[in-house]
Amino acid sequence: MARTAIRARLLDFISDPTHSASAVRLVEDGLLLISGGRIVARGEYGPLSRALRADEKVADFSGCLLMPGFIDAHTHFPQLDVIASPASGVLDWLTLHTYPAEARFADPAVCQEAARFFLDELSRNGTTSACVLGTVHAQSVDALFAEAHARDVRLVAGKCLMDRNCPRELRDTAEQGVQQSADLADRWHGKRRLAYAITPRFAASSTTRQLQLAGELASARRDLYVQSHLAESEDEVRWVRELYPQARSYLDVYDSVGLVRELSAYAHCIWLDSADRLRLAQARAVAAVCPSSNLFLGSGAFDFRLAEQAGMTVALGTDVGGGQSFSMLATMRAAHEVALMRGGMLRATQLFYWATRGAADALGWEGQVGTLESGAEADLVVLDPAATPLLARRFAAAGSIEEQLFALMILGDDRVVRETFVAGQPSKIWCKPEVVAVASSPGDTARTRELTRRFMGRLRDAPGGGVLKP
Ligand code: GUN
Ligand code: ZN
Repeated sequence: MARTAIRARLLDFISDPTHSASAVRLVEDGLLLISGGRIVARGEYGPLSRALRADEKVADFSGCLLMPGFIDAHTHFPQLDVIASPASGVLDWLTLHTYPAEARFADPAVCQEAARFFLDELSRNGTTSACVLGTVHAQSVDALFAEAHARDVRLVAGKCLMDRNCPRELRDTAEQGVQQSADLADRWHGKRRLAYAITPRFAASSTTRQLQLAGELASARRDLYVQSHLAESEDEVRWVRELYPQARSYLDVYDSVGLVRELSAYAHCIWLDSADRLRLAQARAVAAVCPSSNLFLGSGAFDFRLAEQAGMTVALGTDVGGGQSFSMLATMRAAHEVALMRGGMLRATQLFYWATRGAADALGWEGQVGTLESGAEADLVVLDPAATPLLARRFAAAGSIEEQLFALMILGDDRVVRETFVAGQPSKIWCKPEVVAVASSPGDTARTRELTRRFMGRLRDAPGGGVLKP
């Protein structure tokens, strides 16, 4: 079988930097070998390159960092057209911009176009996996899964359950919404790299009955994920208290129906008390922290110190379109700013861990992604520290890997992503001749042929007749 060989600085994490001073693993001049979509060898370039066959080309990314692809623990694919829409807070933003945009997803053609754009944008930003909310329409999730399946992306997604407090055209019913969720799970869950998430949008847009049915499905199907929003803004928390006067807290609304468990991911988690934090930790639920969104919508600042003290599992989400960027680097930068507001200080290595291995392990994918270990799926990103003049200059002055990663996340965005590999396939081959050479080596898979076909199409459609610059 054809192998892809990549030369670069190899970076991944052996463990959580919170608990270990030697969690970072860096090979300065490394070689990674991929075959059949998996990593088959990693090590120092010198010794490992001697094992290459004469016909095997090396994609040379010397000086770049090759690391596990980013994992976005919370985002919305139907919100592409409302990113960068101003509002006084999340509830206004939903009413003014988001619900009208999501209503267009009744049309399957709208769903399909958005799914393609969204997945292109993820890989342009080095994100290889995500937990994604669709709209209330089952067809939105069908379209996203179909496109992710064609690209072999590892993805968690679900249709929103929402049977009150939203426009009529976006409303399902308690029974029909949960039945549609179960049907979607039957169609897609476990199909190659796809997984279904039961997705009550947030407590305010579901009746108690709908949450109960969602909880019953979550209890019957422990293999399914659960995702929702939790304690994002103070206005929202007040509203949920009015809607559920019997609940001890916002978290308790979900917990009392069995929706807080392993494989559940709650976006935001800002306005919690210590009992909530301990409960999330004990349930091993994931707090998908979305700082770029929280800054944009003025929702509040997640308290990383209290989360750590409680032993909560943390991952990072872009929350597009409340979030301002698809970039997990921009999301890390926002996390740094938010942590300072709460008097805390995060290390860059911690943030990169959360965006890669931390998220993978939290989502039940330990050893499968989020690592450069042999046997892992080859979901990778190549980051170029010379992508912009200022970054190149600052990077050159950085003495340690911590300092280098800090500069990358403060100054970097999609411009630093040189390449993204999904299941071993370069997803930007249309603009990277050196990787095309590797991808078109003997023993091409059908997947490579499909990418090459798309590449030729893009070349043809490019301005100026698509002359490929060397
Ligand atoms: N709460 C309920 N729905 C949403 C959403 O789409 N985005 C954000 N940020 N918060 C929500
Ligand atoms: Zn969200």
